[in-house]
Amino acid sequence: MAPLQHPQVRGWLILLTAAVLAVAAGCARTEAGGADGARDEGKVVVACGATEEWCAAMTARFTKETGVEAEFVRLSSGETVARLQAGKANPEFDVWHGGPADGFVAAEEQGLLEPYVSPNAAVISDRYKDPEGTWTGVYVGVLGFCNNSRVLAAKKVPAPQSWEDLLAPGLGKNVGLAHPSTSGTAYTMLWSQVALHGGDTGKALDYMRRLHPNVLQYSKSGIAPAQQAARGEVGVGVIFSHDCVATQEQGFKDLTVTFPAEGTGYEVGGVALVRGAHNPTSARKYIDWALTPAAQEIGPTVKSYQVPTNPRAKVSSKSVDLGTVKLVDYDVAAAGRAKKDLTKRFDTDVAQAPKS
Ligand code: F6P
Repeated sequence: MAPLQHPQVRGWLILLTAAVLAVAAGCARTEAGGADGARDEGKVVVACGATEEWCAAMTARFTKETGVEAEFVRLSSGETVARLQAGKANPEFDVWHGGPADGFVAAEEQGLLEPYVSPNAAVISDRYKDPEGTWTGVYVGVLGFCNNSRVLAAKKVPAPQSWEDLLAPGLGKNVGLAHPSTSGTAYTMLWSQVALHGGDTGKALDYMRRLHPNVLQYSKSGIAPAQQAARGEVGVGVIFSHDCVATQEQGFKDLTVTFPAEGTGYEVGGVALVRGAHNPTSARKYIDWALTPAAQEIGPTVKSYQVPTNPRAKVSSKSVDLGTVKLVDYDVAAAGRAKKDLTKRFDTDVAQAPKS
């Protein structure tokens, strides 16, 4: 027994015990839902790309129906990719829900998502899902102009009916638009210009440069220009039309929606499993649920009027009629692959240019 009392031996024992405890803790972590995906903690953490209200309603209803705890953080599309990239070795999120699918493609390019083909994706049109299951569509939104008729009347500028109209000199610093690096809405606008210019990114950036003097400032979130238009800080916000309808419903009766005659872009809002998620079983359960008609009918209860992708979900009368608006041929995969480079070019070639 005497040698065990020796201070050096006691020191080794302490070190050994600490090492054993550390290994045990590591094993416990893997069993609790590490990157191997063997188990999880019966909860799900969601990076949520739609409105705060939509995210709160979705996660609360999921918990109510399944008993699985759900938390969310509202993030714009580019912010989500940045957060997923920063947490690649130890993801903070299990699921990404909401936000245009081209952002999901950009995340996949960086190895941040794990394919999952939900059985509930079978009813969803091929147009609204990735064939490998990298992302699956949950809603569709159409880009439009959110006009403050009072501001435009004071400026004697008619509500824009085309992308060309948006360049009107009378709209100097009177257009609200987000920055495409952070906002999926603004990237949809940028890629729509690429589509309208036959895939020529240079010409698309030329258009954005011409528009630049009319843009008051590039906001972080795509929804912000709706509030700018509502408060009369700008005459026109370039946003998803459903966000303008929601803002009208908050009591801003001066707002009107128009769509560009040349054709406009649209989003397929996605849901996806995060690669290396700590709670992969709960995450898959969440994705299965998000694709059901019941989950997709929650939107209108919180003034989110995107069109559901599940054909069995009821469509609100306040949602845009996809058959009546001229849409561009929006190639989600190409848009996503180009996103990193194109947003960088936008930032240096357009956003930083001085305004006269
Ligand atoms: O309604 C909220 C919403 O417009 C969604 O339809 C869309 O996917 C998301 O916000 C885009 O947000 P952001 O432009 O901030 O990335």
